[in-house]
Amino acid sequence: MLTDITAARDGALADIEVAATLDDIAALTSRLLGKKGDLAQIKTRLGQLESIDEKKSAGQAINDAMSAVSSALDDRRAVLAADALSARVEAERLDLTEYVGKPTRGHAHLVTQAWERLEDVFIGLGFQVAEGPEVETDWHNFEALNMGEGHPARGEFDTLFVDHVTPDGKVGTTLLRTHTSPVQIRTMIESEPPIYIVAPGRVFRRDTPDATHMPVFHQIEGLVIDRDITMADLAGTIEAFTKAFFGSDFTSRLRPSYFPFTEPSAEFDIQRPDGSWIELGGCGMVHPNVLRAGGLDPEEWSGFAFGFGIDRMAKERHGVEDIRDMYTNDIRFLEQFS
Ligand code: PHE
Repeated sequence: MLTDITAARDGALADIEVAATLDDIAALTSRLLGKKGDLAQIKTRLGQLESIDEKKSAGQAINDAMSAVSSALDDRRAVLAADALSARVEAERLDLTEYVGKPTRGHAHLVTQAWERLEDVFIGLGFQVAEGPEVETDWHNFEALNMGEGHPARGEFDTLFVDHVTPDGKVGTTLLRTHTSPVQIRTMIESEPPIYIVAPGRVFRRDTPDATHMPVFHQIEGLVIDRDITMADLAGTIEAFTKAFFGSDFTSRLRPSYFPFTEPSAEFDIQRPDGSWIELGGCGMVHPNVLRAGGLDPEEWSGFAFGFGIDRMAKERHGVEDIRDMYTNDIRFLEQFS
């Protein structure tokens, strides 16, 4: 019987040695250690042995063989699992130095593409491009935009403050701009009307990323200051932009809304040829307090402003489902938008 046990064990170990896949191991595990396995079968013959000593040593040999087989299975399973993992890692590896056929040229990110196209369209409508800093003062971002300390609208901007407490004990006077509207103020202060500018740029809000929100995103601001500017000029500009950017079969509408820095204020929507609407952004006539903060006399000058999200335009244009995909920088996603 001892010979049978040794033969069964060696046969099992040889089978395990050549097992090539995790499935093989699973099959071997039930075959070798199960009730119908050779060793289990030999065990049923223990009762036929004559002496207690023989039974003891044969029983012991069977147990030893079982545990040798079981640990060989464990070892082989571990090796195959490691192989399977590294094969998978290798298969999914991105080799950024690899190219097939002719070398491909890089291209602008889809948000940059939308940004540049927006600039082009507005330049075509007679606007100039302005810029402002991403780290702003509370004054430019809120106060000068008719949102004094304690104004309830501040709460809607989940602001990221750069320094919470200044040496003189003031709280949150420097921040990451929550919108591009502070560029309105800077432009009014730095230049003389007439002003026709757009200001694209990065903005920041304390937001948890999800399919439609990122804590860092992009807006484009528009500001027009001239004599006798009216709401009709605003509506006409939005309509001209809509047709130039989306196509002549798109139209726009304004809906009454509220922003502290414009009066009256509106939201503007774009209508697709199929009749459905896309909410685009906010706009309105520049509030007299904002003109004054910008050093302009509201009796002499009037104007309108608008602002909307660039990322959302890119998402809309390309049918991107999850805005986070635009920032993961997976080349397999990005290269679809060359
Ligand atoms: N700054 C506003 C926002 O981020 C948009 C806006 C800009 C509204 C200009 C009116 C005028 O929501």
